[in-house]
Amino acid sequence: MTPSRTDSAPSPLVKAVIPAAGLGTRFLPATKATPKEMLPVVDKPAIQYVVEEAARAGLQDVLMITGRNKVALEDHFDRHWELEQALEAKGDDRRLQRIRKSATLGNIHFVRQGEPLGLGHAVLCAQAHVGDQPFAVLLGDDLIDARDLLLEQMIAVQQAKGGSVVALMEVPPEQTHLYGCAAVEETDEPDVVRITGLVEKPDPADAPSNLAIIGRYVLDPSIFGVLEQTPPGRGNEIQLTDALQERAAASGEGAGVHGVVFRGRRYDTGDRLDYLKAVVRLAREHKELGDDFSAWLEDYVAELRDADRTPSATSR
Ligand code: G1P
Repeated sequence: MTPSRTDSAPSPLVKAVIPAAGLGTRFLPATKATPKEMLPVVDKPAIQYVVEEAARAGLQDVLMITGRNKVALEDHFDRHWELEQALEAKGDDRRLQRIRKSATLGNIHFVRQGEPLGLGHAVLCAQAHVGDQPFAVLLGDDLIDARDLLLEQMIAVQQAKGGSVVALMEVPPEQTHLYGCAAVEETDEPDVVRITGLVEKPDPADAPSNLAIIGRYVLDPSIFGVLEQTPPGRGNEIQLTDALQERAAASGEGAGVHGVVFRGRRYDTGDRLDYLKAVVRLAREHKELGDDFSAWLEDYVAELRDADRTPSATSR
């Protein structure tokens, strides 16, 4: 049975953990000397969207789990005095505000993973910083639209029900092998499910459902003790999904896992094709560039259609 926290007030959530130690091999050579988290999505590095999402949800203590070649992340979330002075001297207030913003989103801390032993191991590296409070984990490959309050809803579910909470999204069955997949039971709240089982990247025939974990978690700190005991799984890596499977099957303090089924706007930046789609979709939503970009895009698509109809036509 999922323990409830009606007996004592839930611990407030203040900390977010952002694993950012991956090598970014899918984006080589762009990521040879630049962390993949720093690739621009329109006009901000991908990681800034994630830190802004955490800050909106009230999580202003952010721990990034990094590795070698990630110094640019520390620089991005720090002040840049020379640049600020140059912009100040020019009276370029707009750009000044933009470059200061990333340094004022919260208290950002860094710890290195050391060895690439998997997402579960990356989360375990946060143990000393997080302590014994529930905390959020945000994976940088998934961007959630700022208008969709997924993390806020997950935090509310965790505070009401205890245990851990994962974000789920329906995906086409042929894509389940790319994600952790959940077996679920309904609860009396719409789009909140109880998780009865989790499998990391199952073969399509073994997928318990087409509900995939997307990169948002709110975790009970008891996950750390479980991660310490979790052997390498899929891909010979210590998998967060495997530790959560243990929590889902267990009872007692901190056990139980719920899922929030997300039906909003998610932008996947995990590989080159998805990244390009994310850039186009977010460019259309951009406050300053959106209208002009959308108008150009419509013309361009019309031009491509015309070119298809008249094969000899050339496009710009
Ligand atoms: C990780 C998790 C997986 C989850 C996915 C979401 O996999 O292991 O369970 O579904 O993130 O993006 P990765 O994409 O890092 O291989």
